[in-house]
Amino acid sequence: RYELPFRASVITLSDSGAAGTRADRSGPIIQEILKENGYPVVHTALLPDDPDQLSALLAQLADEHTADLILTTGGTGFSPRDRTPEATRAVIERETPGIPEAMRAFSLQITPRAMLTRAAAGIRKESLIINLPGSPKAVRECLEYILPSLSHGLAILK
Ligand code: MTE
Repeated sequence: RYELPFRASVITLSDSGAAGTRADRSGPIIQEILKENGYPVVHTALLPDDPDQLSALLAQLADEHTADLILTTGGTGFSPRDRTPEATRAVIERETPGIPEAMRAFSLQITPRAMLTRAAAGIRKESLIINLPGSPKAVRECLEYILPSLSHGLAILK
């Protein structure tokens, strides 16, 4: 069984962020919320919307067990480059559909556009990977809603 604290990784998917033409605001918000809730952030990355790069990084982080919880932000919508859910599904071994279902159910009370996020989540080895939407507003709303329930799942992952 795991002991608290659970180590977290935060990965931002953004072509403009990775190119340096736009500041990543969502990644730092996730880091702040994690730290406030006792999750040390042991790894961060800012990647372009490239599914192969993301799949490779997710697999490496899980296989080396760098982090217990891996959160992504961005790339869950409908634009042609939004491939985060596909890159995630390519590497997870067990899907955890309840987490994105809960994010969407909660978020629909805030905006009907919450139906537009295709976010996925699942387990690879001993790491839980969760896609969050991309906007700073959406990541805060979604993460603050799901985070209190995650520790119970993380505690029984191993
Ligand atoms: N969820 C919450 N809680 N709040 C939001 O403002 N925005 C939605 C949705 N989920 C939103 C949300 C919108 S407008 C989109 S397009 C999708 O997330 C996908 O966002 P992404 O492409 O940045 O990942």
